[in-house]
Amino acid sequence: MRVALLCVTVLLIHATPLRAAGDIGLGQYLAAECVSCHQPSGPRDADIPPIVGWPEDQFVAVLSAFGRKQRDGQVMQAVAARLSREEMAALAAYFGALTPQP
Ligand code: HEC
Repeated sequence: MRVALLCVTVLLIHATPLRAAGDIGLGQYLAAECVSCHQPSGPRDADIPPIVGWPEDQFVAVLSAFGRKQRDGQVMQAVAARLSREEMAALAAYFGALTPQP
């Protein structure tokens, strides 16, 4: 079921490449990589800062700054360089919708 939804999501995204808002389904899919470092529940984990519950535009701005190497952090520069604007927006929508746990 989830796979089917994902396919539909991916098809929709390709059909409408200029969507402004990020697609949460795609974001959740892409987030699998991020949560190998960042805690999906929120709290800082050693050197890894929390990224949940951010405003979407801020999240996208930070990722694109990493992608353009205007922000330091080798790991995130490499991660962000592989993401399209659309994927950044999708990740922003997904992580932005998560509530940080105390
Ligand atoms: C290999 C571990 C790793 C992975 C994978 C990873 N990150 Fe990061 N991320 C970091 C580290 C470490 C930092 C802190 C970077 C710094 O400032 O030097 C960071 C910083 C960030 C920041 C800025 C946080 C802040 O408070 O300034 C955002 C946003 C972010 N990551 C999003 C993501 C997203 C989205 C993904 C998945 C596409 C991802 N990260 C994947 C390790 C990782």
